[in-house]
Amino acid sequence: MTARIINGTDIARQITEEVRREVEDLKNLHGITPGLATVLVGEDPASQVYVASKVKMCQNLGIYSERIDLPAGISEAKLLEVVENLNANPKIHGILVQVPLPKHIDEGKILFSIDPDKDVDGFHPVSVGRMVIGEPGFLPCTPHGIQVLLERSGIVTEGAEVVVVGRSNIVGKPIANILLQKARGANSTVTICHSATRDIGGHTRRADILIAAIGKPWFITADMVKDGAVVIDVGTNEIGRTPEGKRILAGDVDFASVKEKAGAITPVPGGVGPMTIVMLMSNTVKAARMAAGLG
Ligand code: GUN
Repeated sequence: MTARIINGTDIARQITEEVRREVEDLKNLHGITPGLATVLVGEDPASQVYVASKVKMCQNLGIYSERIDLPAGISEAKLLEVVENLNANPKIHGILVQVPLPKHIDEGKILFSIDPDKDVDGFHPVSVGRMVIGEPGFLPCTPHGIQVLLERSGIVTEGAEVVVVGRSNIVGKPIANILLQKARGANSTVTICHSATRDIGGHTRRADILIAAIGKPWFITADMVKDGAVVIDVGTNEIGRTPEGKRILAGDVDFASVKEKAGAITPVPGGVGPMTIVMLMSNTVKAARMAAGLG
């Protein structure tokens, strides 16, 4: 079997148009312009690319954006002050502090200083707690993007055996929790594998839906995949540069071999990646609505 390719670019485009209409409605009907602040500390090239694309997307959708770029040597106290100012700024509905932060800064302390009502990344413990107990709140963008990708591709999660490989706070743990919920687009049986898991292949071969979020290029090979499984590749591993300096990305899945065995698969690039940013825009609109008491 050759797998159906799940086109994240197309699905993200549909959602972008939905978010664009929401932004227009908020402006036209309520006089509200959603606002997102991005905070980038240092000059990590990958982070710069991500932040630039978030700012560009805001401009494209009519979302007000404030980009705050700070030197790598900024003190923790100064960075906390920047976040406090954004917490108090009524034009800003969402605050995104790009991670990773430089080593001398306590990442948890910074992320936890963000007002949970402006936590469009969904990384604050209040947001994480709400997600785990199934209360409304902000869901982290990449895992929420995966859930929407599955839903819009017609993939049934109810009762499905989902195996997540990777237990990061950004992807592995939250996607497992989201798909575990007793809710539409979820209700799965979830297993999380990680570096101390014995016989990862024994687990992955049972998966109806296999989610690879390991951070190692081509980790998932065809022998680890059940015939007809849905394979979601969250990997964005830089494996080189083009002569023009553009990043060459590889997923966590050995696409060439796995696509011959899987029922459906996301490519890298063009799978999960485009979903992340659109879910951030969607969260920003949600934050603006909540701030205005629009629910
Ligand atoms: N670094 C990698 N992914 C993300 C993300 O979704 N949000 C933030 N703030 N930093 C990231």
